[in-house]
Amino acid sequence: MQSKEVKEARFYSMTDGDIGIMNEKGIEDASFSGLPSDTRPPEERAADIVSQMTFSEQISFCSGYENLGIKKIERLGLPSVWCSDASAGVRCFGKATAFPSPIAMAASWNRNLIKACSWAIGEEARAKGISILLGPGVNIYRVPTCGRNFEYMGEDPYLASELVVPYIEGVQEKGVIATIKHFACNNSDYDRKRMNSIVDERTLREIYLPAFKAAVQKAKTGALMTAYNPVNGDYSSENKYLLCDILRKEWGFDGFVMSDWWSTYSAEGIISAGLDLEMPLDKWINEKEVNLALKKGTIKKEQIAIMVKNILTVLFRFGIYDRSPIDTSFKEYSPEHSQIAFETACDGATLLKNEKILPLDRTKIKKIAVLGPLAQNTPVGGGGSSFVSTPSEKFDILSGIKELSLATNKKIETVFVESKEGIISPDAIETVKTADVVILCVGYTGVEESEFYEKPWNLPYNQDKLIIEAGKINPNSVVVLTSGTGCETESWLPSTKGLLHCYYLGQAVGHAVASLLFGEKNPSGKLPFTMAKKWEDFRSVQNYVPKEDVDKTNNSQMDGPEMVLEIAKKEWLDVEYKEKLLVGYRQFDTEKITPQFSFGFGLSYTSFELSNPELSLETINAGEELTASVTVSNTGEFLGAEVVQLYIKDQKSSLPRPEKELKGFSKISLSPGESKKVSITLNKEAFGFYNDQLKSWSIEEGLFTIFFGTSSREISFKKDLSIKGNLQYL
Ligand code: BGC
Repeated sequence: MQSKEVKEARFYSMTDGDIGIMNEKGIEDASFSGLPSDTRPPEERAADIVSQMTFSEQISFCSGYENLGIKKIERLGLPSVWCSDASAGVRCFGKATAFPSPIAMAASWNRNLIKACSWAIGEEARAKGISILLGPGVNIYRVPTCGRNFEYMGEDPYLASELVVPYIEGVQEKGVIATIKHFACNNSDYDRKRMNSIVDERTLREIYLPAFKAAVQKAKTGALMTAYNPVNGDYSSENKYLLCDILRKEWGFDGFVMSDWWSTYSAEGIISAGLDLEMPLDKWINEKEVNLALKKGTIKKEQIAIMVKNILTVLFRFGIYDRSPIDTSFKEYSPEHSQIAFETACDGATLLKNEKILPLDRTKIKKIAVLGPLAQNTPVGGGGSSFVSTPSEKFDILSGIKELSLATNKKIETVFVESKEGIISPDAIETVKTADVVILCVGYTGVEESEFYEKPWNLPYNQDKLIIEAGKINPNSVVVLTSGTGCETESWLPSTKGLLHCYYLGQAVGHAVASLLFGEKNPSGKLPFTMAKKWEDFRSVQNYVPKEDVDKTNNSQMDGPEMVLEIAKKEWLDVEYKEKLLVGYRQFDTEKITPQFSFGFGLSYTSFELSNPELSLETINAGEELTASVTVSNTGEFLGAEVVQLYIKDQKSSLPRPEKELKGFSKISLSPGESKKVSITLNKEAFGFYNDQLKSWSIEEGLFTIFFGTSSREISFKKDLSIKGNLQYL
């Protein structure tokens, strides 16, 4: 069994730097150089191995090893296989590139850059001997205070589905198995093992499952990880409906399913539901428990063989046993990877407010005052298992500003001004007053925003007061916000002229922020979630954990260091997703609530205009596709990128539908004065809704509106489309 020390090392390494438990040992079986050449299909090779294994070996193979591994089968010449977290870079195996967190990648709306990141992550994994990446995660941003929203791809199922595909393809094209997680409805980290997500069928299908389906069917993910939380009364790791009926039978998943760490509750439960690999250890899939279940007749011996075969088939498919685990032709980190991390950071950061203060003009500025707890040691990521604790480079925002300000004007003075709990020290007030611009680096770190709990809605440590106080002394301020989500902005937004939302920008944060502030790069990120004026504006939180609890730091009672703890059914906390489809902008637009910043919103230093909206057809038969196109022109003075967004509305349907749903987008870069036509295909999935009575997707005859815009609230044109006939599809 895993020792207490190992468990604690793993837990603390999530926020405290370089402890990664495998670092000291390195990769076991690194000297393995591959099995003799064998051209049989992976399934056949897997079946052959299974047939040579004893039953004890089969049982043993279906549980993890040393926290992050799959066991070796020495007798048959198979080495151990290693996994690592995850979506923002390879963690735990020495220095690695810390990429922007997935929410920042999602804010780029840039499929190509996301693929570049995941190629690089795949290469770093290969260089380190990692064969399975424990990501990406695509749980929907349902509540704005979930401690793990930063690890996922936002509130919209279409956006997440579109972006997770290039992510997985990139990793897997490098020969590394991706693991889509956490299946399903893990939309909160508050007492995550206890929170029983109660979700109706239609909502499940329309909001919470699409990104998983895309990962399985379009990107062909090799692995899937279940969630900590129960869903509709069954533990995720024992959820037959999700794992057998939907994942395997409906979607045709041919990879393997692993549990999240310490989230299994019985041998027969997980075996019958179709879980293949229990992680991290053999709590239930061990000889004693399996034989007990066999004796009771609740499982069959052959089920174990199927589990082994599922895992082995994927390992053979990816060539894991045909090569050495460490590929020295790849780099563990490199200047090229740092550059990709930098470009993605610049592309994701989202400019939310700019009252003629940005970009900063270095020919005119003489003094910059930098304030806030995150100016120095700016966090590269949120806390928990995704945290890349040993980035290959590190450069905080203060250093970035200092370096870049001097690049063109040696006379600019950048002064860091100390503040504590929102108070600027009296002797620094003059510096703030006389500065040409004040940069406030505020937000959250991996301590307040992390796996294991909810993050507070208000900026911690009185940083809101700091912004207000600084604004009184000098109105020329810009807030640089580090946060994986939206947060309270209403009280302090009027006190600042600029707001750049940076999510967690990874190791490039310092350079990226400085490049954006000084206009060397033009912001083009767009919010992948709705930012509300008040926490209570979200319907989802009306049936949730009380706000007082959310606001307490480290608010989970039953996880964190207690993660091995079993949560009995009687201790479950039922959270009914009563808002149904009305998540994020679907709610705000349908209920006409004014957000602070809308989904899809983000400013640029240049201006864009849309013109000539066209539909290739004005009438289609249900199931047919069409092309929507629009011309985008850069009407300003900077090179910049715009994201054209297409939303649809079903004007009349037998079941209520949200006011608007994103169904297409394209990011385009244009020089000043340049125009280009953007064309987006709308296929049948753009028009259907899930009909829970019919148990299928439905397109109903009638009129649809196609909105052409640059955010969910900035709609330039609307066009009607008529659909003839009805269609049901799966
Ligand atoms: C997380 C997973 C992660 C695993 C391994 C768990 O706590 O929920 O996302 O992959 O740890 O580190």
